[in-house]
Amino acid sequence: MIAEIRGIGSFVPEKIITNEELAQTVDTTDGWIREHTGIEKRRIIAPGEAASDMAIRAARMALERAQVGPEELDLIITATATPDYSNFPATACLIQHELGAEHSGAFDLAAGCTGFIYGLSVARGMILAGDYRNILVVGTEALSRITNWQDRNTCVLFGDGAGAAVVSANNNQDNRGILQTMLRSEGAGGEHLMRRAGGSRMPFTPGMDPAETFISMNGRRVYGFAVRVCTILINSLLRKANLHLRDIKHIVPHQANERIIQAAAERLSISLDKFYLNIAEYANTSSASIPIALREMEEKDLLHKGDLILTLAFGAGLTYGGLLIRW
Ligand code: UT7
Repeated sequence: MIAEIRGIGSFVPEKIITNEELAQTVDTTDGWIREHTGIEKRRIIAPGEAASDMAIRAARMALERAQVGPEELDLIITATATPDYSNFPATACLIQHELGAEHSGAFDLAAGCTGFIYGLSVARGMILAGDYRNILVVGTEALSRITNWQDRNTCVLFGDGAGAAVVSANNNQDNRGILQTMLRSEGAGGEHLMRRAGGSRMPFTPGMDPAETFISMNGRRVYGFAVRVCTILINSLLRKANLHLRDIKHIVPHQANERIIQAAAERLSISLDKFYLNIAEYANTSSASIPIALREMEEKDLLHKGDLILTLAFGAGLTYGGLLIRW
């Protein structure tokens, strides 16, 4: 038995903010943002909506494409840094209710931008253990709600959106599914990408410094970490699976910064063509970026049965992780 991705879905909000528009409110330029990140625009969640609203649309698409009914789901795992509520109930439970997934457990998972990879790895493990047949893994982020729109170091980088995958037990002999996983954490670097307030260490209090309530990031430190772990993930996953780079059809990285991927590609002497990049359109949507990319690749007919896909991510925690998938 193998755990396969049976259906992918995604959703991005309608509202677009271009670099030029941002440059009217903060001291930046379209040229700087493109040159340093590859980003051209980002989507912004509608007023009154929250992470679960986007997730439900992505989830419905994934279920439809997988031809799995909500009542057939055994579990919903939601990766998000921007849950509907800061502590509880879990966003996964809101999704479970709205979908009508009556026989499903539900929990949230906090692994920053690596959340979707963590979710797929956990789903695979539970399916291989034999107790679960269909698991919905969701990545959904309303990062615009925790972004300081006055801080040019961060506000140009992020966007909103959601993606979802139905992971199911595959008993065919075609060996299509998630072949290898790798999950890692470097908690020592946690302070370089965090939202300081809102937890038990620094609860929200009236009059607190608003900067504490937003994303804060040491961009250079995260950049260095990201380039380093991209190369570790690619090398380690290939070695674990006894495969060569030429066997891989596409590398689908977390879309954080095009320059991170360029630098990793150079270090490994991999052509940039091997990587699927769509950061120009959506900016960094954290745990949603990989399923949004996979869905877009499906739409463009870039994913074919039997293709080997390597996907990888890095982010808050600090965390990193990757998967090798036979599509
Ligand atoms: O999903 C994981 C989450 N995060 C990441 O992956 C982010 C990782 N880091 C990065 O992508 C890059 O480090 C950034 C895009 C954040 C920054 O790019 P950089 O090329 O590393 O710039 P830098 O930090 O070296 O800063 C260069 C200068 C600074 O000015 P000074 O101090 O040299 O005068 C910044 O103040 O660029 C300035 N700067 C900007 N200028 C115009 C920073 N942001 C902007 C901006 N517009 N938006």
